[in-house]
Amino acid sequence: MFAQMKDDIRAVFERDPAARSVLEVVMTYSGLHAIWGHRIAHKLWKAKWYTLARVVSQVTRFFTGIEIHPGARIGRGLFIDHGMGVVIGETCEIGDNVTIYQGVTLGGTGKEKGKRHPTIGNDVIIATGAKVLGSFKIGDNSKIGAGAVVLQEVPPNSTVVGIKARIVIQDGKRVKHDLDHVNMPDPVADSIRLMQKEIDQLRKELELLREDKKNHGHSTD
Ligand SMILES: CC(C)(COP(=O)(O)OP(=O)(O)OC[C@H]1O[C@@H](n2cnc3c(N)ncnc32)[C@H](O)[C@@H]1OP(=O)(O)O)[C@@H](O)C(=O)NCCC(=O)NCCS
Repeated sequence: MFAQMKDDIRAVFERDPAARSVLEVVMTYSGLHAIWGHRIAHKLWKAKWYTLARVVSQVTRFFTGIEIHPGARIGRGLFIDHGMGVVIGETCEIGDNVTIYQGVTLGGTGKEKGKRHPTIGNDVIIATGAKVLGSFKIGDNSKIGAGAVVLQEVPPNSTVVGIKARIVIQDGKRVKHDLDHVNMPDPVADSIRLMQKEIDQLRKELELLREDKKNHGHSTD
């Protein structure tokens, strides 16, 4: 247990440049308190003390503003920065070294049963206000931009932004989504242009044939 708590404190120092002393971090980081509260709640949940687990979870929420369902499975080194308004659903699974900012929801769409919350890979960053909704995976090393609404799987090493979220960076390369609204493609005009070209060509050939026959004394009419 103490090794895990040390890991949690280490994660704060690694990812928050504002962290000054261990005492300050232990006393004032509500993300840490929420994770420690969750560990107790999760143990009770696994021991089938469901109501007591929910009570511990809600008491922790009262003090931290962070609601983690006791059924959620959380790996090592989770860092919840600021934390207020974070909601983590029952069937959510979180890998190692994940960073979550305030206002993030890892929730369900309301349409699925059973496993209905996301699975977050290792070393993922979920920026402030992002909503990840549904039972799909966020790949390792991915970043979810502030305010994004993610409704489908995100491959590893990707950055996704916007509503609904789209990939803007994958494996270190920018992904373009440009659409030229002025010069839109027009397949009908393209076909007409092609037909006109062929007609012109046929006219030319017919003209040559007529000339040829006239020169040799034959009529093409
Ligand atoms: C997504 C994020 C983590 C950066 O990831 P990154 O992989 O370094 O991506 P970049 O900053 O290079 O941005 C890539 C593109 O996405 C755009 N973008 C970045 N974040 C965005 C967002 N939240 N919403 C919309 N577009 C966004 C950038 O403008 C850029 O677009 P461009 O290629 O047209 O210039 C970061 O932008 C973010 O959201 N940080 C917020 C962290 C946070 O929550 N802080 C709160 C502390 S209290």
